Amino acid sequence: MERTLSIIKPDGVARGLIGEVIRRFESNGIRIAAMKMLQMTKAQAEGFYAVHRERPFFDSLTRFMSSGPVVVMVLEGENVIEKNRTLMGATDPRQAAEGTIRRDFGTEIEKNVVHGSDAPETAAFEIGYFFNRFEMMA
Ligand code: CMP
Repeated sequence: MERTLSIIKPDGVARGLIGEVIRRFESNGIRIAAMKMLQMTKAQAEGFYAVHRERPFFDSLTRFMSSGPVVVMVLEGENVIEKNRTLMGATDPRQAAEGTIRRDFGTEIEKNVVHGSDAPETAAFEIGYFFNRFEMMA
C-alpha cells in the first residue's frame, strides 16, 4: 500500500469541485486515509513548495495557494502516486489528456484544481507537512 498527498486548490474549492474530485478518487478504488480543509498562510505555502523557490512562478504560485481554503487529503492504495497523477492529468490543463481532472476543470497552469505528490520521497514530505500520525486512519 502506498500513500500520496492530494490538495484541492483554492480554484477547485471556490468552484464547488470538492465532491467531484473526491468522487473520482473513490470511484477509482482510492481510499481517503486523512482529510481536512484549511487556508495556508503565504509562508506555509512557501514551505510546502520550497523545491520551486527559484522558479519564476514561485511568488504567484504561493500567493494563489494561500488565497483561499484548500482541501488536503492523504490518498491510499496500490500504486496510488501514479494512479493519482493519471487521474489529475498533465500540469498544464491544455496538455492534459481527455477525461482527467485538470483537462475537465483546470483553467490555466496555476489554476489547475489539484496538486498531487510526484514521488515517494515528496509524498512523505508533503503528508508530514499537513498530517501527524494520529490524523491518519489505519
Ligand atoms: P503543482 O502540481 O501544484 O506543482 C507546482 C505548481 O506550480 C504546479 O502544479 C502549477 O500549478 C504551478 N505552476 C505555475 N506555473 C508553472 C510552470 N510554468 N511550470 C510548472 N508549474 C507551474
